[in-house]
Amino acid sequence: MTALSVSNAVAVIGAGTMGAGIVQVAATAGHSVYLFDTSEAAIDRGITQIEEFLKKSVVKGRLEESQCTAILARIHRCNKLEDLAPAKLVIEAIVENIDVKRSVFGELENILSEDAILTSNTSSISITEIAAQLKRPERMVGMHFFNPAPIMKLVEVIHGLVTDRQVADIVFDTAVAWGKKAVHAKSTPGFIVNRVARPFYSEALRILQEGGADIPTIDSCIKESGGFRMGPFELMDLIGNDINFSVTKSVYNAYFQEPRYRPSLIQQEQVAAGRFGRKSGQGYYDYRAGAINPEPNTADTVKAPKSITQIGENPLLLPLTELAKTAGITVKLEIVENLSGFRIDDTLILLTDGTTASEMTGFLGKPVIVFDLALDYRAASRIALAKGDQVSDKNLEIAVGFFQTLGKKVSVIDDCPALIVMRIVSMLANEGGDAVYQGVTSPEGVDIAMVNGVNYPKGPMAWAEEIGLEHIEMVLSALESFYGEDRYRTSPLIRRAVTAGKSII
Ligand code: NAI
Repeated sequence: MTALSVSNAVAVIGAGTMGAGIVQVAATAGHSVYLFDTSEAAIDRGITQIEEFLKKSVVKGRLEESQCTAILARIHRCNKLEDLAPAKLVIEAIVENIDVKRSVFGELENILSEDAILTSNTSSISITEIAAQLKRPERMVGMHFFNPAPIMKLVEVIHGLVTDRQVADIVFDTAVAWGKKAVHAKSTPGFIVNRVARPFYSEALRILQEGGADIPTIDSCIKESGGFRMGPFELMDLIGNDINFSVTKSVYNAYFQEPRYRPSLIQQEQVAAGRFGRKSGQGYYDYRAGAINPEPNTADTVKAPKSITQIGENPLLLPLTELAKTAGITVKLEIVENLSGFRIDDTLILLTDGTTASEMTGFLGKPVIVFDLALDYRAASRIALAKGDQVSDKNLEIAVGFFQTLGKKVSVIDDCPALIVMRIVSMLANEGGDAVYQGVTSPEGVDIAMVNGVNYPKGPMAWAEEIGLEHIEMVLSALESFYGEDRYRTSPLIRRAVTAGKSII
């Protein structure tokens, strides 16, 4: 452990949303913190925000009054950069502009001691580029906190091209000593979280654009089946559609128009209309007083089956079989190669492998209903289903009745490939796979980042292993062949692991 000693002072530049939170984290960990901002009003607001947060913690019994006083006493207001001279670690959280950041770091190098570490909280600017004109570029590291910094656990430690590994290790260990989960990442557009998370939004937008399902249904399936805390549309409305759209455009362009990151026309329209989300009162949902938002599509209750045949022995589906038995349904077993699901008379109810129900019905010559992935089929309260275009409503009703008997709400959606949760999770795993394959971070780094930076219920790499890498590869190949688009090409990491029968975690 090479964390910065608490006897070393820390400086934070920028007292806005992020800066104030970072000051609080460092001061709470025991450091003297020097806070500088060009705006005195911003320092006032930042310190008031910290005071309010800490006082609430005292009221809730999480902090002693004396600790609160001591933390606040460790924070020093500064009105010029020179006041930051004692600091051994500087965290810059000012406006997202390369020229302004470069000029601040250039000045800082003349003020601080030679062994000081320079870090930037930038979300989107290359650390290599910020460091390029410095005298000591090897001492420059990205220290990317998430909003709100005192609450979100993740810190991405970003290595520029010439960052000294030992310096990055000190930043990493210091973040850990401050109670954070740290991950190392190479300076590449979006780093880990803002890159790997792209499909969460873009695939949801794509399903919406193609009429696969409506907004509340997509959000409800992602939460109630996928176990995510928020649906993609709710989250975009919370982040702000303007911000989310600009991050997407920046990552898309930074990767030279990589099709996987292509922004959505739907989101562009939202932004053009000023529908930024919660902050503007309207986005994908209506937040104005008295507004009534549409409900997810939920099928009416229909008759339960008396007996079913389980097809294949996919361990993911065992909870469904157990729930069926508990519900008094007789369960038989039938092994059919490459199929996972259930059969009721001649109706096949299959876990999606990316092939549409219409295509499956064509291949198998029997009516097929496909169902979506759940994080945990026992806990899931909703399941999305789709029937083949040539399949009758009577067959669909049989599948709806089956899931309803197991205590699930059912959303019948259009026959879009890989449905909702499976499609998004497969694409998250694929993006994580590419980040690992390209040496940006480790598989563990992806999972730690997504669980701690954006509260995913499970890391996409571990989740892909649980679903089965072969299954993920099938889903991605099916999407690629359905759309004929490079966007869905399988990451070489996943392809090689499947070929070699190896794990990716
Ligand atoms: P903000 O706009 O809330 O605060 C920026 C502060 O920097 C303002 O108080 C401003 O007066 C001050 N400032 C501007 N130029 C300055 C200079 N030359 N010297 C000293 N102070 C200066 O911005 P926010 O959201 O806190 O973002 C700051 C940085 O953190 C950006 O690089 C952003 O990309 C990054 N970031 C933002 C996140 C967010 O959710 N807001 C999340 C993670 C990173």
